[in-house]
Amino acid sequence: MVVVFNFGGQYAHLITRKVRELGVKSELVTPNISAGQVKKLNPQAIIFSGSPYSVYDKGAPHPDGKIYDLGIPILGICYGHQLLAYQQKGKVSPGKSKQFGKEKLFISKSPLFSGLSKEEQVWFSHGDHVSSQPPEFKVIASTSSSKIAAMENIKKKYFSVQFHPEVTHTKHGMKVLSNFLFDIAKAKHDWNLENIKAGIVKKLKKDLAGKKVLMALSGGVDSLVAATLIKEAVGSKLHCVFIDTGLLRNYDIKDLNDVVKSAGFKNLKIVNDRIHLLKVLKGITDPEEKRQQIAKVYFSTLEEEAKKIGSVDYLGQGTIYPDRVESAATSKHADKIKSHHNVTLPSGLKLKIVEPLSDLYKDEVRIIGKLLEIPQRFLERHPFPGPGLAIRILGEVTDDRLEILRQVDEIFVSELKNQHIYNKVAQALAVLLPVKTVGVMGDARTYSYIVSLRSVDTQDFMTADWSKIPYGVLEKVSSRIVNEVRGVNRVVYDITQKPPATIEYE
Ligand code: XMP
Repeated sequence: MVVVFNFGGQYAHLITRKVRELGVKSELVTPNISAGQVKKLNPQAIIFSGSPYSVYDKGAPHPDGKIYDLGIPILGICYGHQLLAYQQKGKVSPGKSKQFGKEKLFISKSPLFSGLSKEEQVWFSHGDHVSSQPPEFKVIASTSSSKIAAMENIKKKYFSVQFHPEVTHTKHGMKVLSNFLFDIAKAKHDWNLENIKAGIVKKLKKDLAGKKVLMALSGGVDSLVAATLIKEAVGSKLHCVFIDTGLLRNYDIKDLNDVVKSAGFKNLKIVNDRIHLLKVLKGITDPEEKRQQIAKVYFSTLEEEAKKIGSVDYLGQGTIYPDRVESAATSKHADKIKSHHNVTLPSGLKLKIVEPLSDLYKDEVRIIGKLLEIPQRFLERHPFPGPGLAIRILGEVTDDRLEILRQVDEIFVSELKNQHIYNKVAQALAVLLPVKTVGVMGDARTYSYIVSLRSVDTQDFMTADWSKIPYGVLEKVSSRIVNEVRGVNRVVYDITQKPPATIEYE
């Protein structure tokens, strides 16, 4: 396996995912892990991720110096490149400005770049730069503005690059990673989702033997795949609950019924929490407060259901790997961004939690779903957040606003499906902005809400680009919305990348 040090850089996950895509197990670890702990994991290679820090910053993450005594090959990326230079006694200088975007890389001979051309397109995103390489290191690539864009210490098998091989803008980035993993670190192919699926079921069978499990289905892919895995392990001891929070879209309940029928879940109960939740949300405008209140109601409903079923030991959750990190569970150097529904468990919760997918990325979950023979149309559903439409209505959540947003969302999603765009984008959603603008309809003045449409292209949901949906389609969606939905007179399309914006608005 490969250990990826998570220094809090936006692409740390992507590195981990790309390594797995190449068939090698990889795990993110916190920077303060000791060399002894790393040794216990017995990794075949170590990768240092990027970071928002400069190596000289107070509080900048520096790994235990003893990891350099372990004899494990290291690849430093971006901040990791600077860190390697710094810790190996080279020099890092602050950049006058941030270098961000595509660059031409001039390459010298190195096993890291085997099979690449002399000039390659790469992606940069950094402030500082390595101004002199450490002793025994050789410079192996440069750009017009960066003299030491990559370096190596062949004897120790330490390599580092200022650019990001893990992002698709670096044309042959996967080749660089595969050269490092297989030619340099001699990593073995040990990440195979068929085996992983079997391993998860085996472990669930052992851990949950004879126990009753309650699983909340959200209608989304993760909870469905997690529930199917649990069903494989415990059969009829699995009880599913679907909580109708009133924060769902029109088609969610219908889709759920289809899913349940086709997946053959026997014990399913739909609980209606609509009125209760709206009351709880009354007057709340703060996003975190909303999330916390919804989670509280959600989990107390689940506990009640568990009591009704009787002798339930476990609560199943569809938490996936990035959920854990977005809630800043893996790196204290990454800021807490949002408290995700799946991981905001109330402290007094009496049930034990089982999370069969907590080590997997979204696309891996989909592959596992396919291996479990879940129909493709369910696996292709876009993610939908636990707090539902509440975090897509900025400000107070009211019945009227929910109804408006449901109609808008249905128009947007159905048009994307009609135009065969839905499956090409990663996630499409509509957001109601609680401001009114002036418009004109017929001869009359209107004063109504704005809605924002957002559609993103992403593989890992940690970074995302806005989808380039054809103007004609956007025009049709916009014109249908303002004509068909009372209460909306303006539609905007969100063209912000993540980062800096997140995918959801709250
Ligand atoms: P952000 O908005 O953080 O979203 O860029 C990344 C992905 O996570 C989904 N999301 C959630 N999923 N519970 C979930 O199960 C949540 O509380 C939650 N919040 C965001 C979001 O829809 C996107 O796919």
